[in-house]
Amino acid sequence: LVLVLCVSASEDFDWTKNDQGSFHYGVFPTGFSWGAGGSAYQTEGAWNVDGKGMSIWDAFAHKQGKIFLNDTGDFSCEGYHKFKDDISLMKDMKLNHYRFSISWPRILPTGIKSEKINERGIKYYDDLINKLVEKKITPIVTLYHWDLPQNLEDTYRGWQNASMVNLFNDFANLCFERFGNRVKHWMTFNNPWSIAVEGYETGEHAPGLKLKGVGAYKTAHNIIKAHAKVWHTYDTRWRSKQKGLVGISLSGDWGEPVDITNQKDIEAAERYIQFYMGWFATPLFNGDYPQVMKDYIGIGHFTTRYITQKNYPSGRGNGYFTDRDLAELVDPRWPDPGSEWLYSVPWGFRRLLNFVKTQYGNPMIYVTENGVSEKMMCTNLCDDWRMQYFKDYINEMLKAIKDGVNIKAYTAWSLLDKFEWDEGYSERFGLYYVDFRDKNKPRYPKASVQYYKSIISSNGFPN
Ligand code: NOJ
Repeated sequence: LVLVLCVSASEDFDWTKNDQGSFHYGVFPTGFSWGAGGSAYQTEGAWNVDGKGMSIWDAFAHKQGKIFLNDTGDFSCEGYHKFKDDISLMKDMKLNHYRFSISWPRILPTGIKSEKINERGIKYYDDLINKLVEKKITPIVTLYHWDLPQNLEDTYRGWQNASMVNLFNDFANLCFERFGNRVKHWMTFNNPWSIAVEGYETGEHAPGLKLKGVGAYKTAHNIIKAHAKVWHTYDTRWRSKQKGLVGISLSGDWGEPVDITNQKDIEAAERYIQFYMGWFATPLFNGDYPQVMKDYIGIGHFTTRYITQKNYPSGRGNGYFTDRDLAELVDPRWPDPGSEWLYSVPWGFRRLLNFVKTQYGNPMIYVTENGVSEKMMCTNLCDDWRMQYFKDYINEMLKAIKDGVNIKAYTAWSLLDKFEWDEGYSERFGLYYVDFRDKNKPRYPKASVQYYKSIISSNGFPN
């Protein structure tokens, strides 16, 4: 109840304001943390090295026809072997933090703690964390960025089964025990919406299931419970000693009503957002577990859609949301992003950040992902559209801070080009270009490295 009251009290954002295009000079608060990120399956490679078990993504990518060009993450960027080089790249940019994830089957090959702990896998993360700490780069660690141990899918049907709550809690507890003296920022899950919908409903992602009916809702429910359990485990067993934070990273693209004077469009946009971020944020912030998840919220944000009622003449629903009685549109004037889905709409970012502030009681926000991809080979490394994207989105984030949104950190997505799930290597998000054809996977800075570095060194956009 208290939270709900806070929500209405902090409702001070003018939703009709859309100062798209205006640039705001200014710097970020002292101590604002600048970083970049990646995740285990997307960057590590070394899929069967040093005792690692098989994950659902290993199995899925090894099947024909699941991934663009049948590519896999078997080698990817070889981050497992090249992490020291990568930390030098981070140091060169003067990053304050690096966001990565721990591969569950790398440290528990069957996923089950009582069966086997793989000390060689633990050593990899120990070395990575130690090096980051030595270089004064804060590790922000995600426990689950989609690579479930295959054994748990086979034995329990993965997240469909409520037993996953305790199994995940055992894994998380082990991570707190082994790494928590150095890791102070934990994220339980990355983007549970994708896990539930793309993994268990549309089947585009591992484990590739197309469950009818309530499948995605059941998996989402187990994930929310697992998050809550792990949060409590940290709170009761580790917090007083380790003094860290446990949050969750939710994806939140913005949905703007096509016609803000049309009640049906307003309701459709509301449904879009609630079926996306609200599905997870509402139970965690405003629901049954009021103490849970008050640590911080991670937000991965990339783009915006205009939302209208279903059957709008030119609606082009993407299949996920059409059954929920709405359609998504893009503005034909938005510049061609070179990606099928990722249009640069910076003002949507500010709106989303203000939405989170007002809906969830002004929580502490870590932007865990924000960036843009390219489909074409960026061989000349001149990614001027990415510089523009960062400039515009980071500027809107600055405006959101002026609006009173409590944002502590920004994570450019991603440090390197990497395995982009079902898109394979065709969609490149990196600040660094990776030549995947070369077995040494060399990295080359795109022009945006220099640009991001200049934003970091001046902590924003001084006049
Ligand atoms: C969100 C996912 O968390 C991340 O792994 C992926 O690279 C980005 N979306 C871009 O699609």
